[in-house]
Amino acid sequence: MPEPWLPLCKNEASPRFLGFGDTGDDVAALAGGVLALFTQQNLINQSFDSPSATFIEITVLRWLRELLGFTNPPVQDVMTVWDVGGVIAHGGTMSNTVAMMLAREHAAPGTMECGVTDPGRFAIVVPRGIGHYSVKSALAWIGAGSQLIEVDTAGFRYDLAKLERALAENQGRVMAVVAYAGDSRTQTIENLQGVHDVTRAADERIWLHADACWGLLCAFSDHLRHKIAGISGFDSVTVDPHKVMAVPHALSALLVRTPASLRTIASYSDLIMQEDFAFGQVTPFVGTKGWLSLKLWMLMRTHGRTGLAAMAEKRVANAQRFAALVDACPRTIRLHEPDLLAVAFLYLPVSYANATDHVSAIELVNHANRWIHERMLAEGIWHLHQFSIRDDAGILRKGATVYPLRFMAANPHIEAEHMTGVLDHAVALGQAWEASEHAEDRA
Ligand SMILES: Cc1ncc(COP(=O)(O)O)c(C=O)c1O
Repeated sequence: MPEPWLPLCKNEASPRFLGFGDTGDDVAALAGGVLALFTQQNLINQSFDSPSATFIEITVLRWLRELLGFTNPPVQDVMTVWDVGGVIAHGGTMSNTVAMMLAREHAAPGTMECGVTDPGRFAIVVPRGIGHYSVKSALAWIGAGSQLIEVDTAGFRYDLAKLERALAENQGRVMAVVAYAGDSRTQTIENLQGVHDVTRAADERIWLHADACWGLLCAFSDHLRHKIAGISGFDSVTVDPHKVMAVPHALSALLVRTPASLRTIASYSDLIMQEDFAFGQVTPFVGTKGWLSLKLWMLMRTHGRTGLAAMAEKRVANAQRFAALVDACPRTIRLHEPDLLAVAFLYLPVSYANATDHVSAIELVNHANRWIHERMLAEGIWHLHQFSIRDDAGILRKGATVYPLRFMAANPHIEAEHMTGVLDHAVALGQAWEASEHAEDRA
């Protein structure tokens, strides 16, 4: 391989870097990022600080809302930032934190002024073992106490009967139910409509938050949109264009079903212009506010909805292709049906079949896969990601903790040879591990 220009940096654009993140190298989006740096607009205020950038940002937020199925007020009725129905944030962590603030104010209006008086009311429901840490951290950051009610899942989605039971058992305690339109591990998309219906039936006042950092991808395509059906019934939705749309870091948005709900978390200072379109009034945790949204505006203007739909469909199709390769390989096994870009799979050692009991069989598989991953990181030739996850679909043993390898189809330069290449390499490492294990046995 040629020497990298920046040897101490990862090369995310390489089609051998296949486990994590987005290349973020769309030319239009990159140009938007550079332009935003050069123009030095500050969206905290509008009139003198960001005369037109603010309106580009509003356009981007309205596009995103429309894509998710939220109703936008007619343009002529957008008279203030309170009519827009969303804010641009640095990343999904921040968007999720803003959502938790909204949930808190919804559960106990006026907490912004009075502080938390009864933390027992601020529990949130999350799917067991697959939630992202950001919502838990958010509860701590906003002083609501980290109270998570974890509900069992089946196939990486809420078990709806158990969700119903958890809501009944915790009546009056739950401020929000969080659902993942693409979780951080297998990127499985929740049954959003089902979660919505069960939650609303249990208690109309519970805030429904969808984390669609990954699931946003589906919103662009007529063929994929059905996967996120029901999302527009949620009170708030987090999207992360920097994860799925070739937009360079960082860019996220928090979108709300009812635009005026953002008023509940507004803060006032005479240092921020009290003018209709000053986003500083409506964006918690942020003072000076860079023009992050220009990257997405340039991307959307350049490719149009059809171009972005093609980008999304190609990525999902590549994940399906990789899944088929995993299925065809006798030494690998897939942990889930891929909904989006992720395919999590395990190398199965030959000796797996001879393991004497379930526990030692899982230990064997985990040992092999962790070794493969360590070797991959050390070699730096191919990259797949790894994490722990419960075998929720019962592929090896339901509920067992396993350490899969994860492929991610988030690179437009991925060709068939990269998919076969990385899989063959993982299998070759697995075989090398087995040979070394047997060598140890003989020693
Ligand atoms: C489902 C989900 N939500 C939120 C986040 C946090 O997003 P960010 O890293 O943009 O803050 C991630 C990050 O991987 C994620 O996978």
